[in-house]
Amino acid sequence: MKPNILVARAVFPQVLTLLEQHFEVTSNQDDVLWTPAQLIAKLQGKQGAFTTGSQRIDAELLATCPELKICANMAVGYNNFDLDAMTAAGVLATNTPDVLTETTADFGFALIMAAARRMAESEHFLRAGLWNSWRYDMFAGSDVHGSTLGILGMGRIGQAIAKRGAHGFGMKVIYHNRSRLDAATEAACGAAYVSKQDLLQQADHLILVLPYSPEAYHTIGAAELAQMKPTATLVNIARGGIVDDAALAAALRQGVIAAAGLDVYEGEPKVHPDLLALPNVVLTPHIASATMPTRLAMAQLAADNLIGYLVHGKALTPLNPQVVKT
Ligand code: GLV
Repeated sequence: MKPNILVARAVFPQVLTLLEQHFEVTSNQDDVLWTPAQLIAKLQGKQGAFTTGSQRIDAELLATCPELKICANMAVGYNNFDLDAMTAAGVLATNTPDVLTETTADFGFALIMAAARRMAESEHFLRAGLWNSWRYDMFAGSDVHGSTLGILGMGRIGQAIAKRGAHGFGMKVIYHNRSRLDAATEAACGAAYVSKQDLLQQADHLILVLPYSPEAYHTIGAAELAQMKPTATLVNIARGGIVDDAALAAALRQGVIAAAGLDVYEGEPKVHPDLLALPNVVLTPHIASATMPTRLAMAQLAADNLIGYLVHGKALTPLNPQVVKT
């Protein structure tokens, strides 16, 4: 008998077809946003779940889903998983690393450039019919090439951004991370390790690429923003909650820093109203990995994790490999 799985959100039809070859699939191609109680109801009798960042998998849910063996997240981040609770319940967690690294790094760079060169603000001005002459300082922003790029969080995506900055834009690249990279990796990235304080004070463009954890909550708040250059840009492609969005809005309004680019928000899809009202912040709806080839690769990897584990006993990218299939 085929195992039962739940695909919690809409997914590429070809990935659904693949899953249907191996599983009895309950899908959600209408992309209904289920409440936690609806998700629990849908998970009854399922051995596997194909999840995205919008399904919280915690102890309360796991207690009601004793047959569940694996949740395969279609995301590299997994802050929707309570990993300890999943491990305790014997439920394997998987994510989708590597396949989105370069695409996400491209987008991080796009936000740096859009914020620094005031692209969204000037485009709105043009569309509003306000452009009637050239002026020497019209939408003058800050240079990206040759400037200092600061990276907070130097995993795969941070390193891919560093390479773009150092090798493509001739930037001085500095980074801060929980642990320092080895010398060969630093050299390949063209990046130098600095303290968090030096990073804040020296970066012309600071990009956040650290994973979310409770300790990362409000890593950038009013005190950190006050240490940055008044000409600096801040970009967050990591997770909402790493930046204190209210403090950032105040800093942007008061000229504490010049501009920001955000793809993630505290409490998304809600966006802090103060940010929505500001011209000097570029706001995108959590799309850093959103190209068709990359999203397909992510979905395929999540599906391969489900097939690997439930059919062949081994997942490709497990987060808690200490869980063994029973
Ligand atoms: C997107 O935010 C991801 O974690 O893949």
